[in-house]
Amino acid sequence: MSCKVVIGAQWGDEGKAKMIDYFTRNSDIVVRYQGGANAGHTVVVKNKKYIFHLIPSGVLHKDKICVIGNGVVVDPALLISEFVSLEKDGYDVGKRLYISDAAHLILPYHKALDESMEEFRAKKIGTTVRGIGPSYSDKCLRIGIRAGDIFDMKRLKEQISLVLRLKNLKLERIYKKDTYSDDEIMNILKRFKKVCGGMIINTQHFLHESIRAGRRILLEGAQGFALDIDHGTYPYVTSSNPTIGGALLGTGLNAFNIDEVIGVTKAYVTRVGAGPFPTEAKGEEGERLRVNGGEFGSTTGRPRRCGWFDIPLLRQASLINGLTSLALTKLDVLSGFKKIKVAMGYRVNGKKIDYFPASSLYDADPVYKELSGWDEDIARCKKKADLPKNARNYIDFIESHVGVKISIISVGPDRSHTFKNK
Ligand code: GDP
Ligand code: IMO
Ligand code: MG
Repeated sequence: MSCKVVIGAQWGDEGKAKMIDYFTRNSDIVVRYQGGANAGHTVVVKNKKYIFHLIPSGVLHKDKICVIGNGVVVDPALLISEFVSLEKDGYDVGKRLYISDAAHLILPYHKALDESMEEFRAKKIGTTVRGIGPSYSDKCLRIGIRAGDIFDMKRLKEQISLVLRLKNLKLERIYKKDTYSDDEIMNILKRFKKVCGGMIINTQHFLHESIRAGRRILLEGAQGFALDIDHGTYPYVTSSNPTIGGALLGTGLNAFNIDEVIGVTKAYVTRVGAGPFPTEAKGEEGERLRVNGGEFGSTTGRPRRCGWFDIPLLRQASLINGLTSLALTKLDVLSGFKKIKVAMGYRVNGKKIDYFPASSLYDADPVYKELSGWDEDIARCKKKADLPKNARNYIDFIESHVGVKISIISVGPDRSHTFKNK
């Protein structure tokens, strides 16, 4: 049995997709388990860049099966465009993509409501405006539309008509926005049925059967630990559980099926959108990290906020997820910094703490340790021994203070810029 989970250990964009692409070589099935097209997952192969929002990042390996699990919220129009563009590039996605019949759909009114809620808030979250929150809310309210609903068009039409009465009322009366007609929404659903109908299955059953048949499964998290709706910096979070619990709920696999949980972490920290970020580097240092790291959102293009590595954040990510190892990405971005800061703990209201206080982070002042940096470009390094001494020290320092083995090191965006930490 082999079932690996790859989870973001910070605020998203840690380089999960690159790691998924790396681990896909030794897997048979790659599964997205939560989130939706708020995710922007980048894989670079021989200078060609692919950004996936819904289709699992293992899709570039032509013999692998990809699954969109029941915990994902699927925007049909976006999924179709991603699918069509991959097929155009010669990837036979139609033959090896499965979509859970229990996955909820994101329809235009979800996106309009996401935008309206952001406008309404005094303090903006800075969502991706992809309809994520409104769609998960509908799931909880039990008025969501699921992928499998397209197999009974008569019932679906009645459902849409009912839901639209509510949504249009809200859009028109509260937010003074345009409304949607039944036909408009039904046309999207009909097209979804036509293009994707053949891919919709009971993925929970499929995954358990696959495990029984000895197939190796790789679960792809979106977002990251600190954006988790339960464990993150609420309300500045996403509306799903990127952490290990979400991986189980969003696939139907159970705890005994999982044998590895890999946390992906950058060698520094970034965050997009609003919310507390104690180690944020403002001014020249932050700007240098942003430029060196190309830190602009893969989904929205927004500049990412950048800062220093945060040990308590990583320790908490490890505890919550049961991380069995770490993949350390973007180490190359730190080249050229004379000193590299690492937060060892915080001072909150005059008291020193060494854990991640998700709910009082605004008052947390990081306590830094400064490590010596290195000047060399490390993108061509193929093993740990090739790295400058201070880069090796940095890796060992993080590993020992987080208390989790760093198994993979990434020194550039391309597939080839990856090696095991031996
Ligand atoms: P994800 O959402 O976690 O999959 O990450 P994103 O794709 O949103 O953002 C990570 C960005 O960093 C992408 O542009 C990757 O191509 C890039 N990247 C990943 N690993 C490395 C690395 O080790 N070095 C550099 N320089 N870039 C990397
Ligand atoms: P990947 O999978 C980074 C952030 C948004 C916002 C908050 C809520 O590429 O790592 P939402 O649209 O989910 O309601 O927005 O979450 N966010 C991400 N930040 N990476 C992501 O995905 C993100 N998905 C959502 O910027 O602050
Ligand atoms: Mg991303």
